[in-house]
Amino acid sequence: MSRFTTLGVGGEAEVWTVASHAQLREAMSAPYRILGGGSNLVVADEGLSERVIRLGGEFAQSELEADPALGTPEQPVTGWVGGGVPLPGLLRKLQKMGLSSLEGTVGIPAQLGGAIWMNAGTRFGEAFDGLHSLEIVSPEGRLVVTPTELPWSYRSSGIPRNHIVTRARLKLRRSTPEAVQERMDAADTARRGQPKNRTPGCAFKNPTLPGGERLGAGKLIDEAGLKGARIGHAMISPEHANFIVNLGGASAADVHALLSLIRDRVGIELELEYELWP
Ligand code: FAD
Ligand code: EPU
Repeated sequence: MSRFTTLGVGGEAEVWTVASHAQLREAMSAPYRILGGGSNLVVADEGLSERVIRLGGEFAQSELEADPALGTPEQPVTGWVGGGVPLPGLLRKLQKMGLSSLEGTVGIPAQLGGAIWMNAGTRFGEAFDGLHSLEIVSPEGRLVVTPTELPWSYRSSGIPRNHIVTRARLKLRRSTPEAVQERMDAADTARRGQPKNRTPGCAFKNPTLPGGERLGAGKLIDEAGLKGARIGHAMISPEHANFIVNLGGASAADVHALLSLIRDRVGIELELEYELWP
């Protein structure tokens, strides 16, 4: 799994890349996990017993047309994008077409399906801002839902685990390539202090106090004096304390140990943003 995750950690697993709904149904006939861009995962060194499903084929394609009528009130959306489509490439394509939708998620190395499942985002926008509807496949069958039917919130879609986002229809607004690029640049500026090393992004969600105030997990970890703390080949980034980075050859056990250290030292309860598999 180290090959399939941005952290570059994880033992053996049986990976099934599915190209069609028929193959997906077959893959779902035994215990499984659904893999996106692997950008929020810490996979155990021992590997996984369940099969891992990756979306390829029709799920990695998009049907976006450069239709001049797009984005008008009469025709606000068109086209579907597969859940297995990498978000960075999708954003580049939309920018070139002058279509505004998901600029706030710039810099997130997810697949569209994974970004939706987590409702990935930044303070400039999140996946659900740009969604019109989505297709979900579960062991019970296939359905299409709209965001209003889901209890989505910060970093959560409310979609049950192992329900697979196979396609999404985006809300697209007609804009210009220049204006879309400007919004992407603004969102990207906020990421300047983030490390370039191998990592699964922020370790913890930003906690909300009972009064509603949101604190920065990175700031709290930094204030606990943990920047640069190292266990094995994993380190709390000196650039941004909510990022644990792989210095080369890190194990999942190294990362787990750093997560425990953070929880011991930060005086406030932190909820993990990553997923630990298994
Ligand atoms: P994975 O990591 O592969 O999987 C994560 C979860 O999503 C798993 O439960 C998986 O089963 C599920 N999943 C994946 N695909 C599907 C699907 N098609 N259908 C249903 N479930 C699915 N996150 C942010 O929110 N904001 C950021 O600014 C941000 N910055 C990041 C920067 C870096 C450098 C990195 C490495 C990560 C960053 N992340 C950020 C974290 C991560 O990109 C997000 O959590 C993203 O949503 C994970 O998507 P993924 O496709 O990589 O999913
Ligand atoms: N800060 C510190 N020390 C640190 C890190 C941050 O003092 O080590 C301070 C900064 O100086 C700033 C404040 O904390 O004043 C907020 O920092 P930043 O702008 O980096 O935002 P964040 O809340 O730490 C969030 C998301 C990121 C997203 C950025 C940019 C969460 C958990 N993190 O970080 O998302 O990229 O905003 O919008 O919500 C992710 O979820 O994986 C992720 C990377």
